[in-house]
Amino acid sequence: MNLDFSQIVPSIPFILEGIGATLKFVSVSIIVGFILGTILALFKISKKKWLKWPADCYTSIFRGTPLILQLMIIHYAVPQLFAYDIPVFLSAVLAFGLNSAAYVSEIIRAGIMAVDKGQVEAAEALGVGFRPMMVNIILPQATKNILPALMNEFITLTKESALVSTIGYMDLMRRAEIVGAQLYRNFEPLLVAGLIYWVMIFILTNIGSWVERRMRQSD
Ligand code: ARG
Repeated sequence: MNLDFSQIVPSIPFILEGIGATLKFVSVSIIVGFILGTILALFKISKKKWLKWPADCYTSIFRGTPLILQLMIIHYAVPQLFAYDIPVFLSAVLAFGLNSAAYVSEIIRAGIMAVDKGQVEAAEALGVGFRPMMVNIILPQATKNILPALMNEFITLTKESALVSTIGYMDLMRRAEIVGAQLYRNFEPLLVAGLIYWVMIFILTNIGSWVERRMRQSD
């Protein structure tokens, strides 16, 4: 068997630097996706059609096309139209943030809808206004449905982050590929990258389980 880890040892720090690069754009994307997703969710539960319709269209487009296509459109296609250059970091954050917003909006919408209708009716019967009803009655209950699903979304985003290697962002995946091409040995660097991804997801999954346990305790 042709396996020799000693050759890639000098390249391991180079691969490890990718962890920071990956985490940096994933965390910014999560924030962008969460803020935009929340706004879209509010549009979706609104009774006004002209708010609901664009939000539904947005979700349909971003969930109905591959993320890698959205990434390529943002990084290569749109800049071609207007003749400008866009940094890979910005393209990565835009594609992942916009894509995630579509998924987050559905998570939040479904979480709010899952709260029993009687809660809204009771609040309305007592004359509680829309804002205090949302903040004090509906959202605290919806959070229990939303948080575990949101954690799942963050896990998905972290794994899908490897896609940005295709536009040349120096993330974990790209670095592993570069080392593989330099040494003509792909197994070892890809195995190292795989282990790192696994550890990151392992940590996120555990945070997710912990959040879920805490939510159940507070019941
Ligand atoms: N591989 C899927 C795609 O290309 C991933 C979409 C991203 N998923 C997400 N939950 N943000 O469409």
